[in-house]
Order: sequence, then C-alpha cells, then structure tokens
Amino acid sequence: MKVKLLINQRPRVVDVEPDEYLLDTLRRHDVLSVKRGCDAASCGVCTVLIDGKPTLSCSVLSARLEGKAITTVEGEREEVTRFYTYFGDEGADQCGFCNPGLALTAISMKRTFDNPSEDDIRRYIVANLCRCSGYVAQVRAIKRYLEESS
Ligand code: FES
Ligand code: FES
Repeated sequence: MKVKLLINQRPRVVDVEPDEYLLDTLRRHDVLSVKRGCDAASCGVCTVLIDGKPTLSCSVLSARLEGKAITTVEGEREEVTRFYTYFGDEGADQCGFCNPGLALTAISMKRTFDNPSEDDIRRYIVANLCRCSGYVAQVRAIKRYLEESS
C-alpha cells in the first residue's frame, strides 16, 4: 500500500506492507541515522520525531502515518550539530549509538518546555537508554543546551 509522508521536509510516497514498522520503512529509504536496538520498544535508539514528538519508530506502523511529518537527525543537521557541541564539551560522547535518538528527544524538549528542571530532563529522556554511561554527563549537556542555545 502507498502512504504519503513528509520525511525530513521532503514529500514522499512510500510503498509499505500493512505490518511494516516505520523503522524498517526509513532504513529501506536510506534514512540510516535511525538505529535498531531492541526492536521491542525498550531502548529508544530508534527514536524519531513524528509531528515534532519523540516516537519509537520500531513500534509504529508506517501504514498509520498518512500525512505525518517524520524528522530524523538528517532533517535537523544544524540543530543536531549545535546539540553535539554541548555533548562534546561535557564529555557525554561515548560509543554514540544512542546519540541520534537522544538528540531528537532533546530538540523536541527545547521546543516544548520553558526552563525544564534536571528532574524534567531525566523524566523526558527516560525512554532513551544509554549502555555506556550513567547519564550524568548527558543530563549536564542537555541542561546547558536547553539553557544556552537559542
Ligand atoms: S529499537 Fe526501538 S525502542 Fe529499541
Ligand atoms: S554512548 Fe553508547 S549507548 Fe549511549
């Protein structure tokens, strides 16, 4: 079946199976920043923005997304670069596998909340697991990104 999507600001008509998940659709269309981890809605590395909201692409059917705007880090290069500057400065970068999902979640948070507290940040990123860290540097970097970048 055909579904019309806006993928990274570009209108696309994609052919999908009725039981196909967005993660597979995106990777099949060369949107390769979107990672596959658990494939079971538990790790967050497949996070994309759907109409601006962080969503696990491994658990949403492409067939149900007619007309939706899908954003990945490929579609937010400038903002993602800004975000990674804070990551680097705070020593939050390790293997990087969780970075795309975390970056999109932080960008969504910046556009949704005014002055979130550290607790708010921790709650908002709860679906984005990182196997390499204890989140201390990541939370510090996100806090500075939200406070200082405009
Ligand atoms: S791959 Fe989607 S949550 Fe882990
Ligand atoms: S930096 Fe390795 S999973 Fe997060």
